Order: sequence, then structure tokens, then C-alpha cells
Amino acid sequence: MKPEEARARAEELRREIEYHDHRYYVLDDPVIEDAEYDRLVRELVALETAHPELVTPDSPTQRVGGRPREGFVTVQHRAPMLSLANAFDAAELADFDRRVRAGLADEDVDYVVELKFDGVAVSLTYEHGRLVRGATRGDGVTGEEITPNLRTIRSIPLRLRQPGAPDVIEVRGEVYMPKKAFARLNERREDAGLPLFANPRNAAAGSLRQLDPGITAERKLDIWLYGIGYTDGIVFGRHSEALAWLGEQGFRVNPHTRIFSTLEEVERHLEHWREARFELPYVIDGLVLKVDRLDQQERLGATLKSPRWAVAYKYPPEQAETTVEDIIIRVGRTGVLTPTAVLSPVRLAGTTVSRASLHNEDLIREKDIRIGDVVLIHKAGDIIPEILGSRPEKRTGRETPFAMPVQCPECASLLVRPEGEVGVYCPNVACPARLERSLLHFVSRNAFAINGLGPAVIQQLLERRLVADPADLFTLTREELVGLERIGPKSADNLLKAIQNSKRNSLARLIFSLGIRHVGERAARLLAERFGSLADLSAAGREELEAVPEIGPKIADSVLNFFAREQNRRVVAKLVRAGVNTVADRPAAAGTGPLAGKTFVLTGTLEEFSRAEAAARIEELGGRVVSSVSRRTDYVVLGKNPGGKYDKAVKLGVNIIEEPEFKRLLSAIQSGY
Ligand code: IVH
Repeated sequence: MKPEEARARAEELRREIEYHDHRYYVLDDPVIEDAEYDRLVRELVALETAHPELVTPDSPTQRVGGRPREGFVTVQHRAPMLSLANAFDAAELADFDRRVRAGLADEDVDYVVELKFDGVAVSLTYEHGRLVRGATRGDGVTGEEITPNLRTIRSIPLRLRQPGAPDVIEVRGEVYMPKKAFARLNERREDAGLPLFANPRNAAAGSLRQLDPGITAERKLDIWLYGIGYTDGIVFGRHSEALAWLGEQGFRVNPHTRIFSTLEEVERHLEHWREARFELPYVIDGLVLKVDRLDQQERLGATLKSPRWAVAYKYPPEQAETTVEDIIIRVGRTGVLTPTAVLSPVRLAGTTVSRASLHNEDLIREKDIRIGDVVLIHKAGDIIPEILGSRPEKRTGRETPFAMPVQCPECASLLVRPEGEVGVYCPNVACPARLERSLLHFVSRNAFAINGLGPAVIQQLLERRLVADPADLFTLTREELVGLERIGPKSADNLLKAIQNSKRNSLARLIFSLGIRHVGERAARLLAERFGSLADLSAAGREELEAVPEIGPKIADSVLNFFAREQNRRVVAKLVRAGVNTVADRPAAAGTGPLAGKTFVLTGTLEEFSRAEAAARIEELGGRVVSSVSRRTDYVVLGKNPGGKYDKAVKLGVNIIEEPEFKRLLSAIQSGY
């Protein structure tokens, strides 16, 4: 393809992909199949690979894959990011309304009433229609520049949709983590022995402040835009018009915004959301009232901290009192014992609550929670019930302090409390409670992803002693499956097929599936990348393990312990015998892969790759690495202090790419496209 044609096609593909991203991530109304979308992205990646000079920072292929940074830099907001004054009840709201009307000589006022999202305020700067910068609020005057992290949020347009946008515009909004994503993230963190986030706001803030945008990309963040901070071109008459304009430009604006002209209507609306907010998939902690007309906003002005034309009405945090009827122990899939409070059922934040995790023994002692106690509960992120504390003044003397058992309640093994950890765990991999959960984990979507193996089937398999460990799944027969309740010959066949297919899963999935304590998906991937095979991982020593970036002593210990146990080694050996894949992706066979047919020459020293690593990455993707430059060379990858190959490449006019471009190329291809 001629360079001009390639450029035009790349632009066309970007427009199409942007359109579909907007349909999917902003409007929640996709119009094509995933496979068709993937085809568009693959074509663009291939074009950009063949013509690296066409890659632009706002190409949809560039959302993920920036390299980790050393630290954040601060940037000045063009207009300060103010905060909002609060109103905590109807009287304070009425005060606000009176002040507004008095300030406007009793003119009519329309209020735009928005939801108050509980997340992290950010500012996005677009110059000539392109996203150039994203920043946190900081102290309101200067914030931290977090552009690569914000780029990973797919609903943020990298380019504005319509021509005629002002030269410079700063838009403001709230980045948040949906409730479900928060619950799932904490679940995983608990499994992996990591500290939990207190609420989705902290989780969103923590995810945005990652030096490695790759981690941000894994967290399911989203954004609502609620205003324009600064612009040098376009003039609006009303805030509601600015919101509509943001929507037209492709931003995600919340559909629950309403306009009212009387306080009574606003109050009714407030009452509606007091309960209805719990049905939303994200947390709001109140509503925001903003005077709609911008000329009126201007006349009202602002104090140093907050505008006089807006107020945040805050709902009180939902709490309830109830009684701890019992404290029971759940054995998790990695053997960790979690004490759980059984509560007298009570209504809280939209649901009836009857359980709350107590996480560990230390926490129970710290909060002094006894069986029989009256306790105060709330919901973290509006969804996870938590005990805030007990009410000792309400004790009758019949309450009993809780003591962690010394033996596993399921299999009577002596429990272990590793030094320096808060959790107690059952060391027996064959513990029945562990077994059921570890099997469920093994077959789950992010692990071996065996469709059709749900809790009901697993339970039957255990009851009939058809499986005693995950490896037994691979030797199940059709007869055994047909014998189970609610499994006909057809679903048995499907199940067998799914089990067989899962053997080809990646090494990273296999490592994650084993349920090694503290080894979550990310650690599993890092270990797979580093060691390349299960055999090498199981033979690795402490030093080798700790040499892997992000793998600390805790994970290293846990991996060592796992492979030191005879029972675990037996299961691993059975998996190998069953034919499960235990090696990392082999280099693509010659002639296949996204870099098929491309020839690379490496010269000079690269910062982040050894020569062998760089070559391996190219070969994995189907490319070829040769030692001398010729006219047939497609790319010369240029490191520090290059040799004569560089001069030759210049002379022959071969494509020369430096390390950042080389990395972009690899990550664009590997980011799942
Ligand atoms: S407007 C000058 N609208 O609340 C007005 N803020 O204390 C600036 N927030 O920092 C903010 N939802 O993080 C506005 N619909 C909404 C909001 C909202 C949440 C947050 C925002 C801001 C804080 C104000």
C-alpha cells in the first residue's frame, strides 16, 4: 500500500473505531459485533506496524501500553478547580436557595440538579480537539499530571467528535469505580493477601495514581463529565447547554440530570434519590444544585473555595444497628479462614443484611466484637456490609468473646498463622472446604474458564468422589458426567469438550488457577513471563523469585511453600500427565503472527530489554531478527551507542525506530488486539 493510501486508511479506521468506542463505552449501545470491532482494530494495528510513522498519540491503539513513569509532575489548571459548599438538610438547602435569590434580586432561577458522584475530580485539556493532558484536582490550583492513566479509560475521547471545537478547552469530571468492580477488586485483594480499599473512591484514587498505567488499565474505571473549567472559544448561555455540548463532543454525561425552578421540586427529587441511589451501579453521596444561567452564575460569583451558585446536598451515611448472633468460619480456596458475623437481618442501603465479613482475628479484637453484641454496621461502597464497631454500653454480660479455633473446622488439621500475617490458614490442600472452593476457582472465568462447571456440578463431583483435586477434572468420562443430576448426554459432551479445550490455556492462567496464596492474576502473569514454564517456576529459588519485578518476599515465600508440599507437587504432576499446557506461548511459527514477514536488526544497547529479550519478543510475534542491515530489512531498532549498522540503515533508507517506538509497537500488538 502506498504511504498516502496507508495514511488515509489509518485515519478512516481510527474514525470508525472512535465511533464504535463511543457507541459502546459512552452510549452503552454498540452497533457492531465484537469480532467485527476486533477486525478493525487489528487492521489498524497492522497498518501502524507496517508504517510506524503513522502512529499518533491519539490513535485508539495507544490507550494502553505507556511505560511506567518515575513520578508525577504537577500542572497548573487554567482555571482553578473549586470545591462545593455542602448542605446537610432541608433547612441548609433552603438557606442556599434564599441566598441565591437574594443575590439575583429575586429573579427566576433554574437549578440544574446533578448526581454527586463519589470519585476523584479530574480535568481534561483538549487542544485543537485532541486530548493533550489530564490532571487530578490537587489543591485546586495545581494538580498532578496523569494523562497516560486517564487515556486507559475508554469512554474518554482522545479526540473531540465534532469540528469547530475551541482551540483550548478544559473539561471537568469525576472518575469513579463502579460498585461491582470495587467489590471484585477487593475480593481479589483479600484472596491475594493485599490490603483492602475502604471504598470505591479510594480504589479509584489509588488506581489513578499508579506510575504504571498498565495497572490503571486493569481497574475498571469510568468517568462522568459535569462541567467546563476553561475555554477560549465557545460561549454558552446555560450550564445545561454546556452539558449537552459535552455529550455531542463524545463525553459521558450522566442521564439523571434534571432542571427545576422551585425548591419544592428539588426537594421531591432529593427524596426520590435518597433510596433510589442504592440501585445505581456507582456510588453517589448526594446531589449537586447548580444555577443554570451562566450570567446569573457570574453575578453570584465565588468565594476563594467554592462558587456561590452551587451547593452539594449530602445524604447522611447509611448505618444501622443490629446484633451479632454468631461468628462462623469460612475456609477460602487458598485455605485462609475468614471469620464472618451472622447478624440479625436488618435493612441497610437498599438491601437486607445478615452477614458481614470480619476479615481476621486481630480485627475482631481491635473492634472488640463479641457474640451477642449490638454493633453498628455500614456498607463499604454501598455494597459490602462491614461492622464499624460494637456498643459495649449495651452489653448484658451474656456476650462471649470470639476465639479462633486451633483446628480447621472442616478437616481438623492444625491451623497455621504465618509470621507477620494477620490470617490463619488450613495447610491441608485436600481440605474439603478448600477443595470445593479451589475447584470453583480453578474453573472460573479468569482461571481455566471451563464453561458449564458451576457449583452444582462441582458439588456432585465431590459427593461422588469423582474428583479429589483439579487434575481429576481432566480424566472425567462421559459416563461419569451423564450420571450426574441434570446433565444430559449433550451437556456432558459439551462439558468434556470445554475441559479438553481448556488444556491449551496459557501458563499464566494455569499458575493463577493453582490458587497459590498471594498469587493473583497479575503475579501469575509476571511469573509466567519470567519463568516460561511450570517446571522452571517450581524449581525456582527464593532469589530468582524475588528478582521478578513486583514479586516480594511474601509471594516468593508462598510460591516456595506451595511447591515444597508433596501433595501439591502430586497435583501438578497429574496436570502435566493430563496434557495441560505448562509452557509460555511459544514463538509464533514462521510465517504467522502479526509481525510475520518482517525483518528486524538490533543495534546499540536498549534500556529495558537485553538483546535476547528484544529478539524473543519479536520472534514471539512472528518476526525475524537478523544481524546485518540490507535493503530487505524492515526495521532497525536503535539503542544507545549504535554501531555501523545505524549508518548503513540511514544510507539505505531503512525504517529506524527507537526504543519508545519499538515498545509501542510491541504493546499495541500485545494489548489483546
Ligand atoms: S461541580 C465549582 N458536579 O464534588 C464546581 N462536582 O466538592 C465544581 N463532584 O471536587 C464541582 N459530582 O469532585 C460538580 N455533579 C458534580 C459532581 C461534583 C461530584 C465532586 C467533585 C468536586 C467535589 C466538590
